[in-house]
Amino acid sequence: MEYEVFFVTLPIETMYRYFTVMIKKIEELKNEISALQAATPEAVEQLRIKYLSKKGEISSLMNDFRSVPAEQKRELGQKLNELKNIATEKLAFLKESLSANADAEKASIDLTRTATPLPLGTRHPLSLVKNEIISIFGNMGFTIAEGPEIEDDWHVFSSLNFPADHPARDMQDTFFIQRDGKDDILLRTHTSSVQTRTMEHSQPPIRIVCPGRVYRNEAISARAHCFFHQVEGLYIDKNVSFADLKQVLLEFAQQMFGPETKIRLRPSYFPFTEPSAEMDISCGICGGKGCAMCKGTGWVEILGCGMVDPNVLKSCGIDPEIYSGYAFGMGVERIANLKYLVKDLRLFSENDVRFLDEFVAAH
Ligand code: PHE
Repeated sequence: MEYEVFFVTLPIETMYRYFTVMIKKIEELKNEISALQAATPEAVEQLRIKYLSKKGEISSLMNDFRSVPAEQKRELGQKLNELKNIATEKLAFLKESLSANADAEKASIDLTRTATPLPLGTRHPLSLVKNEIISIFGNMGFTIAEGPEIEDDWHVFSSLNFPADHPARDMQDTFFIQRDGKDDILLRTHTSSVQTRTMEHSQPPIRIVCPGRVYRNEAISARAHCFFHQVEGLYIDKNVSFADLKQVLLEFAQQMFGPETKIRLRPSYFPFTEPSAEMDISCGICGGKGCAMCKGTGWVEILGCGMVDPNVLKSCGIDPEIYSGYAFGMGVERIANLKYLVKDLRLFSENDVRFLDEFVAAH
């Protein structure tokens, strides 16, 4: 380098004359160093070697300084130290800002990136089916009535014409909470208890549907569970006939399962209705020809129904000489099974998201 050559090759006396040259060189280096830039840590290191290493430009100025006459040492020494500090600080600054940039890059958020979609919840299939049932009956003038799941014997059995010790009570395996034969407390086995509660507190016309969870002491399998859901219905007014019941249920079946659906009523028995019937619909899978779903019969059972027994009306404070009515009750799981061909009842309570997700598209 021009400058180095200058000092190394010239005798000391000559250097004395060139004090001003050194000062000038220091000024130049100051400006040069202040303007330094580096894109990588390696570049910073190169600059350190160039200016601050043992063989670097500042060090060689220091070496030359030793040979400067004593009266000029003070001023030159100050300038040299200043230059060295400026260089040290500048390199430290370059190094630091490089690593700060790297950190910032690591932590930076790309605001233009598409967000990961949040999975949305869906309604439970039983809620979907329950709501559909309610809305069909709602359009026919039925309102919703609800009641407690923990009930007393009166509302679940006695008021509904189940005499004490009547074998009909065995039809529904009951979970008892308290059982002493007179103030039994139990988990309701059907939502007919809500019908009783409504009749106790209001006079006809009464037109309600009672959705809710019910409990029965059954071993859990693909076809039975210890709890399930019902929607029961009740209509009480003057001159209500079995024909009214049949027409309302036909309308329901066709809205729920399609306009081609046929119904048939088979005589049955319930303590709280007389006459009683079970209703089948034509099998939606085979259209009535016979398949595995309908066990070859062309019909599948979907609900129980009948004309409210006069004894029930009496025990709830309604005069059976003036009023008559019908009642029906269905399992929501059963309807959902038929509508969506769910083979295993347990799926409804396992909350496997893969199963639940299938019902998003359905509604
Ligand atoms: N409560 C009956 C059951 O749970 C269903 C039903 C309701 C039958 C109303 C007839 C009339 O099985």
